[in-house]
Amino acid sequence: MIDIHCHILYGVDDGSYCLSESVEMARIAYEGGTRQIIATPHANAPGNDPNAWGDRLAQRLAALNEQLRAENVPMELLPGQEVFCAGDVVSMLKNGALMPLNGTRYLLIEFDFYAHTDTIIEYCEALLAAGVVPVVAHPERYAAVKEDDQTAYRLKKRGCLLQLNSGSLFGAFGRSSQSAAHSLLADSLADFIASDAHSPYVRTPFLGDAHEMVSDMYSLEYADLLFRENPENLINDKEIQAFY
Ligand SMILES: [Fe+2]
Repeated sequence: MIDIHCHILYGVDDGSYCLSESVEMARIAYEGGTRQIIATPHANAPGNDPNAWGDRLAQRLAALNEQLRAENVPMELLPGQEVFCAGDVVSMLKNGALMPLNGTRYLLIEFDFYAHTDTIIEYCEALLAAGVVPVVAHPERYAAVKEDDQTAYRLKKRGCLLQLNSGSLFGAFGRSSQSAAHSLLADSLADFIASDAHSPYVRTPFLGDAHEMVSDMYSLEYADLLFRENPENLINDKEIQAFY
């Protein structure tokens, strides 16, 4: 499996705290069947360091990959960011301040949990017009999606992709997010499931149980699409197929 959303890079956001935590996260991910992880530190989050892409993050990623090799943890980390939508994200992207998922056309984006539907749609349309495919992180956690089941359809219709958090399937973010996540799965609107892991203790990068749940409740074919095939196409900058 390939995890496309994970705060495994240490000391750059509210994710992993130190090098040893990052290595432990990679070990846990490996035990759960993950073989590649896109490291997606927060970027452009309000009130925090903008975490602009550059040497600091690139070197941290290289150092962590090096440490994994040194400790014989067979995990490959790829570059990315989780970009909070505020201000002129398109200009930031054009200026090289943001790193799309593995440097592809796909950009992982997040919003305020209470963002208005129109705000979400407007940001997505601006990115699409710039040739970027938005991958909306954890839509099941947004009020706009939970309170109106048309929001997800509107995003998909425009060409956005939806990434659910594995923890949402088990209720880690409350019952309403759990219910929204399963509705998106039942309606075949989800494109990816990723860990959004922040530590080796809670919200971990272990994906094995979530893959098993989707396989049992929906189908093995759908589970493999969400955890393996779509992420593989994404990291290779290929088209993502809808599941109908
Ligand atoms: Fe995240």
